[in-house]
Formats: sequence, C-alpha cells, structure tokens
Amino acid sequence: MRVLVTGGAGYVGSHMVETLLAASHDVVVLDDLSTGHRDAVSPKARFVEGDVGATADVAALLRDERIDAICHFAAKIRVEESVSAPRLYWQGNLVRSLALLEAVLASPTPPAFVFSSTAAVYGTPDEVPIDEDHPKRPESPYGESKLAVERALESYGRAYGLRWSALRYFNAAGANAEAGLGERHEPETHLIPIVLDVAAGTRPSLSIYGTSWPTPDGTCVRDYVHVSDLCEAHLAALRHLVTGGASAAFNLGTGRGRSVREVIDAVKRVTGRDVPVLEAPPRAGDPAELVAKVERAEKVLGWRARRTELDTVVRDAWAWKVRAKQG
Ligand code: UFG
Repeated sequence: MRVLVTGGAGYVGSHMVETLLAASHDVVVLDDLSTGHRDAVSPKARFVEGDVGATADVAALLRDERIDAICHFAAKIRVEESVSAPRLYWQGNLVRSLALLEAVLASPTPPAFVFSSTAAVYGTPDEVPIDEDHPKRPESPYGESKLAVERALESYGRAYGLRWSALRYFNAAGANAEAGLGERHEPETHLIPIVLDVAAGTRPSLSIYGTSWPTPDGTCVRDYVHVSDLCEAHLAALRHLVTGGASAAFNLGTGRGRSVREVIDAVKRVTGRDVPVLEAPPRAGDPAELVAKVERAEKVLGWRARRTELDTVVRDAWAWKVRAKQG
C-alpha cells in the first residue's frame, strides 16, 4: 500500500511510519511541524511539510502519490489547553479534518481512512471497562472535536461510501528506542514521561493529582497501551478496510487499569531510582478510572495488545530517554 500519514512527525505518527515501512509499505508524511519533530521521520518516507486542511494541495498529493490509505494522526491533544483555547481544537481538529476529508472524497477512488480518536469521547464512564457503545459525553473541546470527526466519518460512510476506522486510544505510552523514537511533547503533561524525568533527576518531584479518588489506592486508574501495539492495531485496521471490512470505531487499550502509584512503582523498579512525590489536588476534568473493553478490536481486527506489562511500557520509554540523552 501507499499510505499517507498525517502528523507523521508526532509521537504515535512517527512510530506508525516505522511500522508501515517495516511491513514494506510506501509512506508519505504530511506534517506542519507545529508540534512534531522533523528528525522523528524516517528518511525512507517522503516528507511533505504542509497543512492537512489545505484541500487542493492534499487532493493533488493524493492523486500524484496514488495514495491507497490515510492514517490521520495530525491533531492537537491537550485536554486542558482545549478548555482554555478551544478555537485551536475546533479549527485544528474538526475544521482541518473536514477539509482533509474533502480532498479524500474528491479522489476518484477515495483512500481508506484511519482516524486517531480517543477515550476522551466517552467522558466520565458509567462503568468500566468501557465498550464502544457506551454513551459519548465528552467533557472537553478536545473530546468534542474528536467525536465530531467520528460523526462526520459515520455519515460520509453512509452517504458517500467512505471506508473508515476510528481508533479510540486509551493512554498511549512507551517507545521504540531501537528506532530512535519516543514521546517528546512540549510542554510534557503525560504521566509516564514526567515520572521518568523525576527518576532521571531533570524534575524535582511528581505531583500526584488527587489521592482520594474512589479507586483501590486512591489515585487515578488508566489503561496504558504501548505505542507499538497501537501501530499494530492501525495496520490491522488498514488491512481490514482494504479487504472490504466494515467501517467502525474500536477501543485500543489493554483492558487492564493501573493507578498512578502503580506507575510510580514500575518506574522505581525499572530505573532503580527514587521518585519523590507531592500530593496535589485533582486536575480539572480527570475521571477516576478509564479502562477499555477490548473485545471488539480482537474479534473484528484480530488485534490484541501484546506488550501489556507496565514494566515493559516503562522500560521501553526509559530506554528511549537514556538513548536520547546520550545523543
Ligand atoms: N497525573 C498525575 N501527575 C502528573 C501527570 C498526570 O498525577 O504530573 C495523572 C493524571 O491525573 C491521570 C494520569 O496521571 O490520572 C494520566 O495522566 P495523563 O496526562 O498521562 O493522561 P490522561 O489520562 O489525562 O489523558 C490521556 C491522553 C489524552 C486523552 C485521554 C483520554 O493524554 O489525550 O487520555 O482518556 F484525551
């Protein structure tokens, strides 16, 4: 396949480029480098610096590169930022995705479309684990913008025959250190990279956002899924679509929840370092527990996360950090 990866210079996108290349696909990356890193893109991929919302340019790219499928990663991803600066999310995530879809639908043979969605479409769940039919009540413009794109995909599929998958990531984590890839957000807000910075001594301490949640140890529970497993799920979704499989949304998680304290313990075990913590008030908008029900992806796509031990996720993220520091 010839696959266009939007946001291929970002965290999950850059890992996907490696996965596609390793599976002998041709890859074109489209990224505006607003948050991504040019050096994260494999030299074996063609790199185009540009805006996914520039419909005419993207339509020309799809035609000239004879693109068979698109993995659309390019997006804004910070829940808190989406509350204070919602325009970035409605414009960046919804308007740009709709403009990209205009280019897709203008193709004589529209490429299959795999969309990076999020567990944030559910909001605070009624019960965990969460299945795909759980009511969608996003609690931030970030979650709203992702859900709105999903709704567009559903209606475009029905009306225009667009083939799509929406992959709802739970907590993407880990790295592919051998490929020189890892998580590099600026600023960093995600738990595992922050805890690793504390272990490495580049941050003084970790603030635990809330210690009296209704969870076994009082800290929030999340479903951390290895980025390499996410990439394998995208490959499975692409195969499913190009072989005539039905369009649908899928949760991508491990089905197992881990608390903030369990993550801290894993980091201590893996690094052999201490992690000083401060107990801080809860962060606005954080639900107590988010864990995926993963049966649909297993049944329909034949995908299941393989790197399910928290220590594996942490060890790979740490390996990348150590390697990046050594330059
Ligand atoms: N946490 C801390 N201290 C920190 C950072 C995080 O205690 O310094 C806690 C958070 O409160 C949360 C957990 O660690 O309970 C994980 O936090 P992250 O910021 O790593 O991830 P979130 O679960 O908040 O968000 C992730 C993605 C979002 C997505 C969401 C969907 O980053 O893009 O999952 O569930 F919307």
